[in-house]
Amino acid sequence: MPNSPFIRPLVHALHAYVPGEQPKIKGLIKLNTNENPYPPSSRVLAAVKAAVDGRLRLYPNPTAQRLRDKLAKLHGCRPENILVGNGSDEVLALAVRGLVEPGQNSAFKFKNSRPAKAVVQYFTPSYSLYPVLAEIHGAAKNPVALNPDFSLPGARELGRGRQWDFNAALTFITTPNAPSGQGYATADLDQLCRLQRGAVVLDEAYVDFAAENALALALKHPHVLVARTFSKAYSLCFQRVGYLVGHADLIAGLDKIRDSYNVNGLGQIAAEATLDDLKYYRANFKKIIATRESLSRELTQLGFRVLPSQSNFIFVHPPAFPAVEWLQKLRDRKILVRWFSAPELKGFLRITIGTPAEAAALVQAVRRIL
Ligand SMILES: Cc1ncc(COP(=O)(O)O)c(C=O)c1O
Repeated sequence: MPNSPFIRPLVHALHAYVPGEQPKIKGLIKLNTNENPYPPSSRVLAAVKAAVDGRLRLYPNPTAQRLRDKLAKLHGCRPENILVGNGSDEVLALAVRGLVEPGQNSAFKFKNSRPAKAVVQYFTPSYSLYPVLAEIHGAAKNPVALNPDFSLPGARELGRGRQWDFNAALTFITTPNAPSGQGYATADLDQLCRLQRGAVVLDEAYVDFAAENALALALKHPHVLVARTFSKAYSLCFQRVGYLVGHADLIAGLDKIRDSYNVNGLGQIAAEATLDDLKYYRANFKKIIATRESLSRELTQLGFRVLPSQSNFIFVHPPAFPAVEWLQKLRDRKILVRWFSAPELKGFLRITIGTPAEAAALVQAVRRIL
């Protein structure tokens, strides 16, 4: 496509984020974008339906006040510790814009500390949006490889010639990680956070399927934020609601650069109703975790190497054919999974955990392919 001369050179050069496919074909089993296989609770659907009337002409609450009140109660903090966004993608972008100086070589000084480098730092592989956000902002990137088994390198190891930057203005850590599915111990995250002089965002998009969460770190350290979303565990991708938890001063700073009405009204209502029906969702987490474990066992028996997962997807190394061929063979049988072309990922498939019936259909298709 020819480049318009009116677009900034930085945007011309940008490698835009590539979302997973949202197919129009009917009857596909969609295990490619980590959506929840169960619908929102009937109370959430009723609340959204009841809100669809003439009030759509009005602006929504600009600060998502009621939702922040409810989230504060849930997390044992104050509404001032919470910023709600148009999906967690928006709050991740706000963190980059509010915490990192643009410009590859700029540095700035934190109060009473060494100069921070204008760097967005993250592990690879992890959520592929982070480098895109850094590029959009014109900030330098510092990708640092995880261990070959996708585990988190220890703080000491990072200090020893791994190019890790303890002065990076912003460090993103996806926990549990994507696409590996691996969960990290809160004690290890705490140790790393203590050593970082810049801000840290712990991206907990999948944390409801994990054994541990690190929310306490955001309420304990003034430079740590936890990002959460209603998309995955709370079946609300369509409504786009995510949030940050952190120190009130950090939240107040990011709040200044947010769009005034960044969270749409129906999204706020859906998220509020979700928090009134957590029992329903917690039962779903249990079902998804049970399906994850049984599917992992079955695929292992069929010769797949299945990495241990703490999320609503599994990362598997398939037998017999290259992963990219499996992608096509499964698609031919109307099952969509995700494949990534990066060298360290191309041998794997990421499979979202669906319903038990969808898992059974996947296993049956795999048997036929083999
Ligand atoms: C690690 C991670 N963080 C954040 C998000 C974005 O979620 P949301 O739908 O809240 O924007 C995703 C979505 O795929 C993700 O995988």
